[in-house]
Amino acid sequence: MDRVGIILAGGYGTRLRPVTNSISKHIIPIHDKPMIFYPLSILMLMKIKKIFIVVTEKDFNQYEKLLGDGSNYGVKINYIFQNEPLGIADGLLKCEKYVKKQRVCLILGDNIFYGSDLKLNFTKISNTKKNTIIGYRVSKPENYGVINFDKKNKITLIEEKPKKPKSNYVVTGIYFYEKYIFEYLKKLKPSKRNELEITDLNNLLIKKNKLNCKIFGRGYAWLDAGTFDDLIETSRMIATLEARQNLKVACLGEIAFNNKWINKEK
Ligand code: DAU
Repeated sequence: MDRVGIILAGGYGTRLRPVTNSISKHIIPIHDKPMIFYPLSILMLMKIKKIFIVVTEKDFNQYEKLLGDGSNYGVKINYIFQNEPLGIADGLLKCEKYVKKQRVCLILGDNIFYGSDLKLNFTKISNTKKNTIIGYRVSKPENYGVINFDKKNKITLIEEKPKKPKSNYVVTGIYFYEKYIFEYLKKLKPSKRNELEITDLNNLLIKKNKLNCKIFGRGYAWLDAGTFDDLIETSRMIATLEARQNLKVACLGEIAFNNKWINKEK
């Protein structure tokens, strides 16, 4: 697999204060495991072994304790510091010199995906040599990057948290990028809220006809866990699924074992 994974686990987690005064948001549990296990499991399902986790220096020791260098799960984890939340695109740019011109799968540390054939479909996308984002229908698009389409359902623009969304389809927090993406990233300027916006990067790619959008339909669940209500809702969903099937969602040990990255003993 010539693709590296990047998980964004920086930011202040302001909507989860006071918990996030002392605990990094992405370590808070979703049902029976830390939030970051969910995006990490997605990378591992695609057999991505080389993983960078973007964290603040203040939170680093929490991740170090939890995941270390990744060897317990057969992956190789390196930590990159982003001390201020200067944007998702800024987090990606901070990884440039370590990524060394490899293709990238960027995933937000608070994103949870679940559905049938998830492994197969993500692997297919990962193997395609195209920049790709995943769109998903939601009831409150105004909270996300909203996808605008033309009459032929071709993506024309992404609007970040618009007051009047032009569709119900939004950009999920998983992005597949080709090697040259860092050249595009360097063209970005900070937005009004002083962030390098991933949406600006994607709009640049759309203009150049270099961005694919794949829609995940009803067979998938996609949630992000930014608020206390999200934590409860997401935890309930995972708890229900796991209890009903007696199978775990995002079980890193199981995925590593199935990938033949660790032995039975480990
Ligand atoms: O979840 C999907 C959405 O994620 C997209 O639809 C939006 O287009 C995209 O901008 C983003 O919106 P959010 O408002 O959800 O992004 P948020 O600022 O909450 O950051 C998402 C995660 O990324 C969060 O868990 C913390 C991490 N992060 C964020 C920023 C801004 C960083 O690690 N560093 C950062 O600088």
